[in-house]
Amino acid sequence: MACYFRRRIASKLSRVFERSEDEFISSLYAIPVSKKQQSPDFRLSINSLRLNGILPANGDLQTQTTALAHQLKQDSVVEEIFAGPGVINFRVCQTLLIQKVLEQLSKERHEFGMRSELFHGLKKGTTLVEFSSPNIAKKFHAGHLRSTIIGNFIANLKEFLGNNVVRVNYLGDWGMQFGLLGAGFQHFGCQEKLKINPLQHLFDVYVQVNKEAENNDIIGKAARDFFKQLEQNEPQAMSLWKQFRDISVIEYQQVYKRLGVHFDVYSGESFHQQQAQEVVEQLQTRGLLKTTETGTRVVDVSQSGDMSSYSTVLRSDGTSLYITRDIAAAINRMELYNFDEMIYVTDKSQGTHFQQLFQILLAMGYSWAERCQHVPFGLVQGMKTRLGDVLFLEDVLDEAKARMLRNMSQAKTTKDIDDPEDTAEKVGISALIIQDFKGALVSDYKFDWDRVLQTRGDTGVFLQYTHARLCSLIHQHGDGEEGTTDPSLLLDQRSISVLQHLLRYDEVIYQSAHDLQPKHLVNFLMTLSHLAALAHKDLPVKGSTPAVAQARLQLFRGICTVLGNGMNILGITPVEKM
Ligand code: ARG
Repeated sequence: MACYFRRRIASKLSRVFERSEDEFISSLYAIPVSKKQQSPDFRLSINSLRLNGILPANGDLQTQTTALAHQLKQDSVVEEIFAGPGVINFRVCQTLLIQKVLEQLSKERHEFGMRSELFHGLKKGTTLVEFSSPNIAKKFHAGHLRSTIIGNFIANLKEFLGNNVVRVNYLGDWGMQFGLLGAGFQHFGCQEKLKINPLQHLFDVYVQVNKEAENNDIIGKAARDFFKQLEQNEPQAMSLWKQFRDISVIEYQQVYKRLGVHFDVYSGESFHQQQAQEVVEQLQTRGLLKTTETGTRVVDVSQSGDMSSYSTVLRSDGTSLYITRDIAAAINRMELYNFDEMIYVTDKSQGTHFQQLFQILLAMGYSWAERCQHVPFGLVQGMKTRLGDVLFLEDVLDEAKARMLRNMSQAKTTKDIDDPEDTAEKVGISALIIQDFKGALVSDYKFDWDRVLQTRGDTGVFLQYTHARLCSLIHQHGDGEEGTTDPSLLLDQRSISVLQHLLRYDEVIYQSAHDLQPKHLVNFLMTLSHLAALAHKDLPVKGSTPAVAQARLQLFRGICTVLGNGMNILGITPVEKM
């Protein structure tokens, strides 16, 4: 569809310039649907031809545009070609547009758009995405929630594009906090409570021991001792640590499951503890280590080598740091997975950390560090539940579900649903995700439950509602797939707008693949939902002739499929009833 038309136009351009068609494909884009009737379907930007060296950059832009428009000949597929400011517009045969898009929808369904030519230029291979990465015994804050859903989106997107994806959860499962936790547990811990509600109990113990340690030196010393035992792999300390870790992972997994998120590996900081020491030796051998006056070991990462910027990799007592473990983890992942790219998803406050990490890896001679990337995101303010601050991911999900359940019970439109709790949970989660994905990831935003859960406006609830409505229409009347559609039955403006909009699906995915921002896909799906609502209102199925009903059902089925596909990439499970 989009490819069919793009190729057709590219072939005209290739004849004029005597260059291969492929050189033009990515300069052609489908036009966003406008309220004006009869907007063109595709557009070519003359500037991009100049940037690609196809047209001289110093010529007069408008003269070049008009001249080229004259040279291109219309035909039965591309029916109209006309110049605009710095662009050439193409209108394709509408009957053919209807036919091609419907054909592709029936053929590809859940893989709609997946084989677009636009993706050919993208590198394929193994993508490692590291995300979520909470710290055991500490709060699972809004930042971890953001990392979880953003990382999941990136992993889904990369998978859709044909990459082999490894999803890694880099647990905060090592460090002084475990010294405190271990010492604390010996004083205030309770095996019974640990079994019933492990995350809460570990958190409580951690808070209590921290408070205690402030005025009680004995606790502080016990904590240091415990951590030292851990660092020396002392079996008793290790077994308690392992119990904390195992029990926490099981809890996390349950909550991730509610979110529809999974990981291929839980490989935390602890795993790289031993290797961190080897990293230090390697840095030493390469002459990258410096010793400060206080005895810490640092790597100078300043441009000028004057220590104006450095990164500490070893404390004076010989213990490793967060960055040391990250260096070890990266090297280990390369050995294990031989990745083509690695993506870290954390809040923007860790920007410098990752910059330094990549610099150090490069200095160590690991040129693959160039293929590592940090995707930063902004802060969420005011995410609270009725019980107060959010402590665990579970609290947020419970709150979203409870609120959604209440809204659903008040709504007149709610259908008899088999499992209202499950639906409320899925819709509630999609609301959280859409709210989070609407803007640029790096922006901060204020969280507000009422706004998040609105039915109208660009919310996740609205997306789910549109999807469910289409599902119920299809459920009642069939999916229009049994007959062949006569395209002329969909020549109305509502249908054309939807189909024109669908031409953009692969472009939008392409944009998201480039900057890893979900907002392009979110906007696309919102517009699709609005167009679907209009079509649903103006194009009745009931009461139409069988041929018209069938054609419309095929259109609605197509919208429903693409909506569902897009939602799945975003990490949203589409519901069929609500
Ligand atoms: N556990 C860390 C935190 O909660 C995030 C880990 C990010 N990933 C990394 N490779 N450093 O802040």
